[in-house]
Amino acid sequence: MEELASVLFTAGEIQARVRALGEAITADYAGRTPVLISILKGAAMFHADLLRAIDLSVSVDFMSITSYGARSAGVVRIMKDLDEDIGGRDVILVEDIVDTGLTATYLLSTLGAREPSSLEICTLLDKSARRITPVPVRYRGFECPDVFVLGYGLDFEEVYRNLPYIIAANDMDALAEDPLALVKLLEDGDGTVAGPEDRG
Ligand code: IMP
Ligand code: MG
Repeated sequence: MEELASVLFTAGEIQARVRALGEAITADYAGRTPVLISILKGAAMFHADLLRAIDLSVSVDFMSITSYGARSAGVVRIMKDLDEDIGGRDVILVEDIVDTGLTATYLLSTLGAREPSSLEICTLLDKSARRITPVPVRYRGFECPDVFVLGYGLDFEEVYRNLPYIIAANDMDALAEDPLALVKLLEDGDGTVAGPEDRG
């Protein structure tokens, strides 16, 4: 059978990177109280793990956005805005993935206008090969190949967010035809997709 998906980043690899990012943020923001903004829904899982890897007093806030079109075209609408004023705060924008960069560019401009004292991006995945607008990514978990990825917060039609690892979908036609196509593989046997073993 042709492989529909393969494991790109194992749970163990992700957790190791999250710990390293947490240590870097802890060192860089020593003596300050940054606010870590989770961009829902994709970043929620990364955000939750990252927070626990930071050994500082931090605050959290959430913003929910939608992009028009299946894949972002840079037209973003805020569905839920932040609860707190970020004026004068050290803000870290936590993203699941920076792809074309259009969403991040929009967020930087709309949040920058609120005059935080600093504003940085921490993204789990950086798909820099697809960048349309340059984005100043301060913290990056992994450089991501130009493939559609799922798991650890990332979805296809709201499915797969709960995977503790990240998989690359090798057959988008199969997934488009049946968004649950990979679930069958995941439920098969030991719960891993076809392809490299979960090294984590
Ligand atoms: P950008 O505006 O093109 O940088 O898009 C960012 C958003 O597109 C992310 O927050 C994701 O919601 C979505 N996205 C981009 N690439 C992928 C992918 O490979 N899998 C799942 N979602 C993706
Ligand atoms: Mg998203």
